[in-house]
Amino acid sequence: MIQQEKVVPTTTGHTWDDDLQELNNPLPTWWIWGFYVTFIFTILYWLFFPAWPIGGSFTKGVPGWNDVTYTATTVDGKQVQKTTHWNMRSKFMQDMNERGAEQKVWFDKVAAMSYEDVSADADLMQFVNSAGKTLFSDNCAPCHQAGGQGKIGFAPNLTDDYWQYGGTYELIHTTIAGGRRGYMPPFKEVLTEAQIKQLANYVLSLSDEPHDAEAAKVGDTLFHSETAACFYCHGAEGNGRIELGSANLTDKIWLWVNVADEKKPELKLSAVEKVITGGLNHGVMQPWEHRLQPEQIKLLTVYVHDSLGGGK
Ligand code: HEC
Ligand code: HEC
Repeated sequence: MIQQEKVVPTTTGHTWDDDLQELNNPLPTWWIWGFYVTFIFTILYWLFFPAWPIGGSFTKGVPGWNDVTYTATTVDGKQVQKTTHWNMRSKFMQDMNERGAEQKVWFDKVAAMSYEDVSADADLMQFVNSAGKTLFSDNCAPCHQAGGQGKIGFAPNLTDDYWQYGGTYELIHTTIAGGRRGYMPPFKEVLTEAQIKQLANYVLSLSDEPHDAEAAKVGDTLFHSETAACFYCHGAEGNGRIELGSANLTDKIWLWVNVADEKKPELKLSAVEKVITGGLNHGVMQPWEHRLQPEQIKLLTVYVHDSLGGGK
């Protein structure tokens, strides 16, 4: 008899661990369910969230299902409500707005209170210090340096007790809101080189720097004369006038001539001569009233006055 069909045994017939045989390897139940769940999740995700690219655009999810609403500021400073499909930027804006609302409570307090009351309120000062630090590093540190210590020939130190434009809360506020621009005319047309040298010696004598005493004596007379008229702006004592922001020449603090750090007396002298000859017109701080909110300027005023340590 010819065998028509050969039955090929598919397994050896062995069984291990109750149900384990060759060719019988079902996936674990938990794995299967995990698969179904992720599968369903994917479909839902496509429906709800931006997912598939199409040409230059993408599917944005069923309209209205994933809307994010946030407050945005337009170019001309208006606050508008914007609603858009879910995306990282709108989520970020929403977070920022929430944080801004928390901050606003504190800013409102600063705005409503007097400088002195803000300064005396320990909790509020904690906020002033942290918000002030951020505002200062974002806007002021590029010129006044990270700690407000300033840089010779660039921007003044805000941590010392010397104030070119006055160190009261009100005057610091005026400085920040309205900006400042110091101007000293050049004297090369008005004075001879010899007179400029005499004046420079007098200026050095005011801060006990090495100088030629005889020349300084003539310089003294010139300083108070109508010709040079230095005293008009720098005061009869040479200690400056805050209305003009003219430098105090007696306090050993220098902004434009690096007298203090210059080691050689002749270099100190020539640096002062250079300023008298050419004048000064590059001490410019732009006004901030159009770039910062009033309460931010007020907070910065307290920060500069109290926290940078130079308030007086
Ligand atoms: C572009 C550089 C620059 C930036 C940015 C800048 N300042 Fe000034 N700031 C100056 C200069 C320069 C002066 C001195 C002006 C002068 O000599 O007439 C000055 C002066 C001041 C003074 C007066 C100091 C005194 O002794 O009276 C204060 C206070 C001040 N700045 C605070 C700030 C604050 C707060 C900010 C940030 C909101 C800021 N500045 C941003 C350059 C800058
Ligand atoms: C019209 C007013 C004016 C007159 C006049 C004037 N100065 Fe000044 N001077 C200033 C101002 C304002 C500054 C500070 C400029 C700034 O910070 O941007 C200054 C700065 C200086 C400085 C630099 C100080 C520093 O910290 O680096 C010296 C030095 C100086 N003046 C000397 C003189 C002498 C000497 C005369 C007389 C020949 C004179 N000035 C006349 C207004 C004047």
